[in-house]
Order: sequence, then structure tokens, then C-alpha cells
Amino acid sequence: MSDRLYIFDTTLRDGEQVPGCQLNTVEKIEVARALEELGVDIIEAGFPVSSPGDFNSVVEISKAVTWPTICALTRAVEKDIDAAAEALKYAKKGRIHTGIGTSPYHIYNKLNSTPEKILERAVAAVKYAKKYVEDVEFYAEDAGRSDNEYLARVVEAVIKAGATVVNIPDTTGYTLPYEFGEKIKYLVDNVRGIEKAVIATHCHNDLGMATANTIAGIMNGARQAEVTINGIGERAGNTSLEEVVMTLKSRYQVLNIDTNINTKNIYKTSRLVSNLMNMPVQPNKAIVGRNAFAHSSGIHQDGVLKNRENYEIIDPTDVGINESSIVLTARSGRAALKHRLEIMGFELNKEQLDEVYEKFLDLADKKKDIRDDDVALLVGDAEQKERR
Ligand code: KIV
Ligand code: ZN
Repeated sequence: MSDRLYIFDTTLRDGEQVPGCQLNTVEKIEVARALEELGVDIIEAGFPVSSPGDFNSVVEISKAVTWPTICALTRAVEKDIDAAAEALKYAKKGRIHTGIGTSPYHIYNKLNSTPEKILERAVAAVKYAKKYVEDVEFYAEDAGRSDNEYLARVVEAVIKAGATVVNIPDTTGYTLPYEFGEKIKYLVDNVRGIEKAVIATHCHNDLGMATANTIAGIMNGARQAEVTINGIGERAGNTSLEEVVMTLKSRYQVLNIDTNINTKNIYKTSRLVSNLMNMPVQPNKAIVGRNAFAHSSGIHQDGVLKNRENYEIIDPTDVGINESSIVLTARSGRAALKHRLEIMGFELNKEQLDEVYEKFLDLADKKKDIRDDDVALLVGDAEQKERR
């Protein structure tokens, strides 16, 4: 039997904090509806106490969305929790996400406190949130740099206080995959009552390891992944939804874990978020980048045209992209040119193809990439020559 991973999307909270990515309420509702259609289980809609606009967005998203749980972020502060509960009052399923820093950096330098006082505040916040909603998630901020023994004490105490989900963020994107995996395993093995809560990963990408760390966490028992579309988020971003979901789908035989994501909606959701947030996706971004399914070298093009799986581990239609693209460049071979000519409706015999190919190479050395109108001109020249 396979296990189920809950997908918690924080594009509208952690993602939207990025400078220049702010959305208005109408745009946020559009993204929330797209996330619902994508099959996301939990949508983190905002941080209600932070501004009236954020508060209002959580209210409107709660009204607009039916199936996913709507989550609101708070600090371990009563007024934050009051605001979150108020903003969630229209949610069909509402969750309060409260928490506090547990690393030495946060305890001593940021909060000017002590480990014992932080533990008390964590428990008090969960108990306070429980007065409003059944579903309370606790985050141990900077868990990546927190001492495992202390973290386990905090996690055990908040579960006892009623937390239904315990979030273990690698806030600064510091850990290595094996370390993050071991941290989750440590909690699974050492926290009494851990089976009463879902363990969540929330990884940042400062060292480019957010997806690897998330997968390591899942392999060690986490069953909620906190992610964003296109990996958008603070600094180098959060774990990207599309990478985690497609890793689980492509490597299902090894990982044996399902999600509820309708993967065919991935590409259109990626485009929507990129356009609304004015945040371009890097061309070589895994899964959704412009080049993720583009083949440009002759050897690869020939291989893909013989059988897509020679060079592709994901069928592009699985993520809502119509087909792989064969980009014509000076590295392309005859097979790629012939393929493009056939798509354009030209049937050339061997001699004609050889002749067009020679001209094509001349042109491709001068131009970066060859478009259909260039190819049509090359065929036109060859036809004229034949008539003479
Ligand atoms: O990165 C982080 O620690 C967070 C928490 C607020 C969950 O975003
Ligand atoms: Zn974060």
C-alpha cells in the first residue's frame, strides 16, 4: 500500500513575501482557485495580523475556495492568533499555523530568551489556538539549526498541547539532505506521541537543496511537504511544488508515495503565478522551465525522435506541456531538420534533404536558433534551383 503525502502550498504567504511579488486580493483568489484545481491539500493564504490587506485576503480566499484547508500564519502571540481565527471564520476547513524559533540563534539573539521560556510560549500558543480551531500546526522556526534533543522536547510538548501537525522548517536552507533526513528520523524515533501528529517539511533553497532535503524528510517519515509554485519564496526561495510532486511520481517504484496533485495542471499554474507575480521562471528550471523539455544537440534530438524516453524521464504531457521541443541549432542533425520539415508539411527526398541540410548548417552557424520561416526559405531556394 502506498502512503499519502499532503501538499501544503505557501505561494500566497512565504512566496508572496518576496519583494515585487505582491498580489492584490483578486489576484490571490485567482491563484487560490488554481491551487484548488491543482489538488493542493492545504493553502497557506496569509499572515492576517501583518496587514489589513493580508487579513482581507485570508477572508476572501476562505470564501472562494471549497475543498482545501485554508491556513493562516501567526507568531506565538495571542493577538496574532486572534486575528488568524477571525480571518478564517468563513473557511470550510481552517487551520492556524503558529510557532516560534527554536535554534540558539533565534532563542538568544532574536528572541532574547531561554530554551525553557520558548518551550512554555510554544505550548501556550498551541493551547490558545486550540480554543478556536481543532487543526493547529506548530512550526519550530530554524529547526534546521536547532539541537535535536531540544527540538524533540518542544515537538513532544506541542503535540501534548494539541498540535495536529508539527512543521520542521529549514528556515535558512542550511542542512544537507542526510542531516535533514536524520533530524526527521530522530523525531520519529524519540518523540512520544509523534504518531498523533503529521510531520511537515518546510525547506528553503539557500544552498539549492530544498527539494533534496524535502525528499529526505519524506523518506524518513514526514507526510506533509510545504512548497511553493516555481519555488518562489524568501531569498533563494522555498521547495518547489512541481519538483517534489514529479519526483514522487517519476520515482514511485522507489518511494511509494502518492499526492492528490493533478499534475496536468502544473504548467498552467506555473505560468499563472509567474505572470501575476511578475517573476520569470529560469529557462533551465526543472519541470517548468522553457528548456525543461527542449532538446538541442544532434545526438539527443536523434535519440528523442527514435524514442522520447531515450532522453526524457517525464512525459511533458504529464505536466500539461503539449510536447517536447526540438530546437534547431548548428548542433542539430538531419533527423531533427527532417522532423521539423515534416511538421511544416514538406516531404523531401534524400538528395533534397542533403542540400537543404547543408544550407541549414551555413545559416545555423550565423544565427542562434532557426525558426520555421528560415526553414521555409531554405526549402524555397532548393525548389527554385531544381526548377532551373
Ligand atoms: O521558513 C520558515 O521557518 C517559515 C515559518 C514561518 C514556517 O516560513
Ligand atoms: Zn519559510
